[in-house]
Amino acid sequence: MIPQAFVQELLNRLDIVEVVERYLPLKRAGANYVACCPFHNEKTPSFSVSPTKQFYHCFGCGAHGTAIGFVMEHQGLGFVEAVEDLARSAGMTVPEEEAHAGRKADAGLDGLADVMQCATRYYRDELKRSESAIAYLKSRGLSGEIAARFGIGYAPDGWQNLSAVFSDYPTAPALAKAGLVIDSEGGRRYDRFRDRIMFPILGNRGAVIGFGGRVLGEGEPKYLNSPETPLFEKGREIYGLFQARQAIRAAKKVLVVEGYMDVVALAQHGIDYAVATLGTATTPYHIQLLLRQTDDIVFCFDGDNAGRKAAWRALENSLEWITDGKGVGFLFLPQGEDPDSYVRQNGREDFERLLSEAQPLSQFLMRELTGRVDMHSEEGRARFLQLAKPLVEKVSAKALSLMLRKRIGELAGLSPEEVGSLVGARQAAKPAVRRAVDKRMPQSVGRLLLQLVMLQPALAAGLDRALLDTRQADMQALAELLDFVQANTPGDLKAAHILHHFESSPLQTLLLDAARNLEWEQFSDEEREQEFAAVVDKLREQVRNRESRTILAEMQGKDFKLWTPEEKRLYLEQSRRDTVSPEK
Ligand code: UTP
Ligand code: MN
Repeated sequence: MIPQAFVQELLNRLDIVEVVERYLPLKRAGANYVACCPFHNEKTPSFSVSPTKQFYHCFGCGAHGTAIGFVMEHQGLGFVEAVEDLARSAGMTVPEEEAHAGRKADAGLDGLADVMQCATRYYRDELKRSESAIAYLKSRGLSGEIAARFGIGYAPDGWQNLSAVFSDYPTAPALAKAGLVIDSEGGRRYDRFRDRIMFPILGNRGAVIGFGGRVLGEGEPKYLNSPETPLFEKGREIYGLFQARQAIRAAKKVLVVEGYMDVVALAQHGIDYAVATLGTATTPYHIQLLLRQTDDIVFCFDGDNAGRKAAWRALENSLEWITDGKGVGFLFLPQGEDPDSYVRQNGREDFERLLSEAQPLSQFLMRELTGRVDMHSEEGRARFLQLAKPLVEKVSAKALSLMLRKRIGELAGLSPEEVGSLVGARQAAKPAVRRAVDKRMPQSVGRLLLQLVMLQPALAAGLDRALLDTRQADMQALAELLDFVQANTPGDLKAAHILHHFESSPLQTLLLDAARNLEWEQFSDEEREQEFAAVVDKLREQVRNRESRTILAEMQGKDFKLWTPEEKRLYLEQSRRDTVSPEK
């Protein structure tokens, strides 16, 4: 954690006009400066920088923030990196003392993030010292600049190298919990990663949440990955996404490849909108996450059997999530090639040409299915229908579904009516709202409500402020947020305005955190309303519970014969609640 006071001090020293100008030419317009917005496409400038308020604001897309926010957004950096970067430019040093305070016995998530950050720095420094590691990366065609962009490092050979960075190495639970060390049965602790090139995996806020470590040359396993930890769940993370976000926006597409090296090698050749799943199949979660960044996903797989299988899995998991206007494509490379080898041999232009010829999902689907049966026989075509049916029925995009069914008719020699009677349009409504609510980290009611109000301020009207126990930080933030929203026109408010208002308030971090939560973006306003109402109900229930517990506690000392009817009712109600859902 960087102390808030330091962040303030830094912002005081910087001039946002000067910072923005490092990246973007600004023109003076009255008291402010303007430019075409770097965060969305436009011809006339609506991006404005205010030297007096020390803010930037885009009237076109609503992008908004301080010098730190600008550097984060523009350079795709995490908060810490942006602060470090700016501090360096201002000749200031980021205080470090709190990183160590965080590494206490019961390290929470912050503690884990800290040890990961320290380890990343250590591996990066070690890379500079290791001739063999540098030579290996060079032999794979990587420049120092790309290695730095991806934070690539080197874990030297040896069993307890990390003890050089962590003074509490033998005992700190966070090291094991973060997956950096392994505790042997004999009680000895040793480094998980030894003599490996280290690829840090960044979470959606730019913090390191895991590593992939590659042997230099031959060896098993070729890649050793961090185990699942509270920070890191493989089926949900995407390698390179944090670094690629801007490029994905600019290219209006994302390329999904299989390996760490593919992502890095493509970036080396100027294709910086590539990401990789972490040695796992593409999950529906991945698809949803990617479709929130852009309308077009292209999967690139090896041309071998394993590649086709992986592509098929990706297809199956995409069907449900594509909406009309979004596209999913498939590119198969020639046998024996992967994106890394292909781009190194043939260059960017050639690779991008292949990319532009990727098969659309519908084509891949039909080719694959017709290839599995004999389309010349009646039985074969019946089998084709049978295979296509469950897949097409998953598609919720209306136009795509229609098109697929039409094509099936053409291929199977049936009229649209006949196909219609065999293969239905998708019936079920969207999957239940709750399913995407993050099950991984149970969120407090306060946090959930904060996230929802940040995204959709009008929801604030449905919340009775009296329900909020302002002794809790989340609830306090929520109460202040409600006051602010109610004093304004909620319909016109955007997260950016709210963040602006709370810019130097101690609540800023909480609100920023809530605003960055992307989980909710995929829901419609109506679905969010439903969810909001359900969470408010839960809150009401909690408050009721707490109140009756207080009364019950007071009744404890009293002879039950003297209980009033009201007290008896409360007692019964509470014991019923306790048997149904014991409070932890
Ligand atoms: P590949 O074997 O295709 O690796 O595995 P690659 O990226 O082309 O690596 P290089 O070019 O040989 O260095 C694809 C991905 O599968 C996962 C990794 O995420 C890897 O990037 N994998 C592979 C593992 O997790 N462990 C392994 O042992 C192998
Ligand atoms: Mn490879």
